[in-house]
Amino acid sequence: MYQIDLRGKTAVVFGVANQRSIASAIASILHDAGARIVLSYQNERLRENVAKMAAQWDDTVLMECDVSDDSNVESAFNTVASSIGKLDIIIHSIAFADRDDLGGSFVDTKREGFRLALDISAYSLIPIARYGRPLMKPDGGSIVAMTYQASHRVFPGYNVMGTAKAALENEVKQLASDLGPDNIRVNAVSAGPVDTLSSRVISGYRDMKRIHSERSPMRRNITLEEIAKTALYLCSDLSSGVTGEIVHVDSGYNIMGI
Ligand SMILES: NC(=O)c1ccc[n+]([C@@H]2O[C@H](COP(=O)([O-])OP(=O)(O)OC[C@H]3O[C@@H](n4cnc5c(N)ncnc54)[C@H](O)[C@@H]3O)[C@@H](O)[C@H]2O)c1
Repeated sequence: MYQIDLRGKTAVVFGVANQRSIASAIASILHDAGARIVLSYQNERLRENVAKMAAQWDDTVLMECDVSDDSNVESAFNTVASSIGKLDIIIHSIAFADRDDLGGSFVDTKREGFRLALDISAYSLIPIARYGRPLMKPDGGSIVAMTYQASHRVFPGYNVMGTAKAALENEVKQLASDLGPDNIRVNAVSAGPVDTLSSRVISGYRDMKRIHSERSPMRRNITLEEIAKTALYLCSDLSSGVTGEIVHVDSGYNIMGI
């Protein structure tokens, strides 16, 4: 338990697939800080995993939402409005690309694979912010997305997901500008590699993880808890003056020239 008090706050966490998901670690730390948690998962197949997590906590709401359709996002926030009323925190921890587009040559990326990866991994933040915004009024709130430094550097195998992360990081800045007058802050955590369902699908993942641990200033990989602690900071009053930022949690790897 860290000394951040989120009692009375509600957080919607998108992107819980299993216990190893970054979203699960963030939900857990927000819960421990006192927030009421709404756990959102993509489809029925994941419900059992998510229900097990929710069973550990009081008052947790489960919400299915496939973000590939804006009407699903709108009805998810309608559920939050009718069951809880107001909202303080939104976590966007969602990404998807076809396996074929997470390996081989980037030049072979097909139009449909590009569209799918950008739609799910980047565009989805926009309707989430749009439909979440009215529930954050009048006090404001914090929106946190998950990104990776392949947004601006080349990691072979990460391919089209790097393009999606570049778009996502730009959205973070534009949404921060749009929503700032409502005291809604929008930031992203740029995390180093951690083992999850999604990361293991990337063909270059093992090399990415090894090289981070060998070359980062701290000479190690990061943990899920370290990502979650930074998300907690971004969701709390400690970061009240911070918006539009991409905060690296990567043992410092992004500063290195080699
Ligand atoms: N694991 C890493 O090394 C790492 C590093 C940096 C950033 N990230 C980012 O963290 C976020 C979470 O990924 P993770 O590593 O925890 O993997 P994960 O597989 O546990 O989470 C990805 C989530 O995206 C959800 N998702 C995919 N398509 C969806 C859709 N159409 N509608 C709703 N949800 C959908 C999945 O159901 C899953 O819950 C992603 O944005 C990822 O790019 C991960």
